[in-house]
Amino acid sequence: MGVADRVSGPGPKVVSERVAVSGNVRGPGACPEGCKGANAHEIAEARSSARRNGYYGRRFGRRLRPGRRRLLEILLPEVLMTLPPEGTRRVDPRPSFTPPPEEVRLEVGFGMGEHLADQAERHPEVGFIGCEPFVNGVASLLRHIEASGLGNVRIYPDDGRRLVAALADASIARIVALFPDPWPKARHHKRRLIQAETLDAFARILEDGGELRLATDHAEYARWMLFCLSRHEAFAWAARGPSDWRRRPADQAETRYEAKTREEGRRPIFLTFRRLPRG
Ligand SMILES: C[S@@+](CC[C@H](N)C(=O)[O-])C[C@H]1O[C@@H](n2cnc3c(N)ncnc32)[C@H](O)[C@@H]1O
Repeated sequence: MGVADRVSGPGPKVVSERVAVSGNVRGPGACPEGCKGANAHEIAEARSSARRNGYYGRRFGRRLRPGRRRLLEILLPEVLMTLPPEGTRRVDPRPSFTPPPEEVRLEVGFGMGEHLADQAERHPEVGFIGCEPFVNGVASLLRHIEASGLGNVRIYPDDGRRLVAALADASIARIVALFPDPWPKARHHKRRLIQAETLDAFARILEDGGELRLATDHAEYARWMLFCLSRHEAFAWAARGPSDWRRRPADQAETRYEAKTREEGRRPIFLTFRRLPRG
């Protein structure tokens, strides 16, 4: 059975804007910043286009093994979430899945994809969209999709904020962002995922009663998250006591970043918010 045959549903129907992720799918090239496997021109291009759009994280890591490159070439197009040209219309994500799921959840910055793959395996009735601009992470999630034959995952291999801006109102049941980059320097705070503008967008795409799940190992970022969310009229903190922010939600798998945090002696904080009913 071929790789593509193992994902049951076809890819999303709405196709016009393709996201360039194939930088290190091709042969090795000289990267001035040590991103082995990508062509220097492609890296520079990806970086400058990303920065023009306000994304500052990394896109490339270690050179990919041939199996992972093959997944990017063959499996990614099958599960790629593509968007109409910016500003033209908003996308209902449900028809992107076959059969249409009971609800759609979104994970922004899935890292190596272990949490998303675990959720998708536990909930075949739910459609999962994962956003991650880091190509090695995308390849890692593709490996999980292939290994477990997951047909209910779609990937947007780019800045999650662009996807969120394109999704239809009240189309998402849960948004998850686990250990988003804390950007600790004050002059970089505007790069943080959690901001008033992003929360407005999250509030727009979440269904009434929908959930926003966050985690961080950075105390100041946790305070920032609580500050931004407490000021936002669409969200209410769901915690009833300290165990709610000290313990990972029971149905949530540990991510690679969380494991590293614990190994290094830091304590993660888990924050869950409810989207309040409209009007
Ligand atoms: C510290 S890592 C945590 C990864 C993973 N959630 C975990 O817990 O292991 C933060 C991740 O967010 C991704 N990221 C950063 N900005 C993003 C954005 N605007 N949209 C989507 N992903 C983003 C990064 O590429 C990185 O993989």
